[in-house]
Amino acid sequence: MKGLILSGGTGSRLRPLTYSNAKQLIPVANKPILFRVIESIRDAGIREIGIVVGSTANQIREAVGRGGRWGVSVTYIQQDAPLGLAHAVKVSRDFLGDDRFVMFLGDNVIEGGISPLIAQFADSEWNSQIVLTRIPDPRQYGVAELGEDGRIVNLVEKPQNPPSDLALVGVYMFDANIFKAVNAIKPSWRGELEITDAIQWLVRNNYHVHPYVHRGWWIDTGKREDMLEANDLVLEEIKYGIEGYVDRESQVGRRVMVERGAEIINSVVRGPAIIGENARIVNSYIGPFTSIGNHVTVENSEIEHSMVLGNSEIRDIGTRIQDSLIGSHVVISRSPIKPKALKLSLADYSQVGIL
Ligand code: DAU
Repeated sequence: MKGLILSGGTGSRLRPLTYSNAKQLIPVANKPILFRVIESIRDAGIREIGIVVGSTANQIREAVGRGGRWGVSVTYIQQDAPLGLAHAVKVSRDFLGDDRFVMFLGDNVIEGGISPLIAQFADSEWNSQIVLTRIPDPRQYGVAELGEDGRIVNLVEKPQNPPSDLALVGVYMFDANIFKAVNAIKPSWRGELEITDAIQWLVRNNYHVHPYVHRGWWIDTGKREDMLEANDLVLEEIKYGIEGYVDRESQVGRRVMVERGAEIINSVVRGPAIIGENARIVNSYIGPFTSIGNHVTVENSEIEHSMVLGNSEIRDIGTRIQDSLIGSHVVISRSPIKPKALKLSLADYSQVGIL
């Protein structure tokens, strides 16, 4: 089997972070979501991975390279415009050939691995396997309706009135019949070739599409709140340990990862949390569910339930920072210079909550 990761698209819902970053490269618990996707495909025994890229192709190529780091071989597939998930499959035909494959959306995070699912599909006669999960309001996803015998009756993309609470998770498995489907369907109301419509085409034409209902957590990191939630969930799954330096005055909880070169000086860190490589935490409090990126400095400040991306500085902040998503190379500090006022320099679409 081969792997196909979709990493094109614009990421407009995650602005301003995605002005300077492909959304699939935003780190969750200090590791880009895309790297987590590559690892779960690799862990399922797949070695040939195609990555569909769009306007952020250069950043993605630079971050992932040829895949050697993971023991896989990566082929890049350029998609000229984000014309839909089924369009991404279409442009990947040369790479995929007639092999069975798993397609994974590069911005999805799913609990546990996908190895058992892939093994099950590889050994089956099924033409496709889709992954569903129950969510209270699935209107912004693909939604499946199952019959009493458990087979798929109907699939619809982003319905106003969902026929069930079963949302399509961004992991799909196909054989080469999917190419007949993606060539047969027409663009949807939003102008995209929808993979949901292609799967519905397979169902209507009596191909065997097996629905698997996933019971763990799953996050599509398309929005800011989802990003923090994904960070919370992944922080509970990471490996903990102290690889950096913690001085005697500091207290570091059991479920904390202090990465190489990081220093914790006279501070308290409560887990689950991760302190990135070469970060410096001085006279500060880092609360649960916080990811501090590589080369970040936090001094005389308190921060909880937040993500701080690489190379940022937070100094002398009297109020606790909470529920925040702070990009890379950001500086937040207290200035002694009068007048006493907030001095902000924020990117477009930034959000700041002031007491
Ligand atoms: O997350 C699961 C949902 O993903 C499913 O429930 C929906 O049925 C499916 O259509 C999809 O919905 P989204 O609207 O959330 O997809 P999004 O546009 O966010 O794209 C998902 C990933 O695929 C993202 O990493 C960008 C990439 N992509 C997207 C498009 C439209 C491409 O590589 N090429 C594209 O043309």
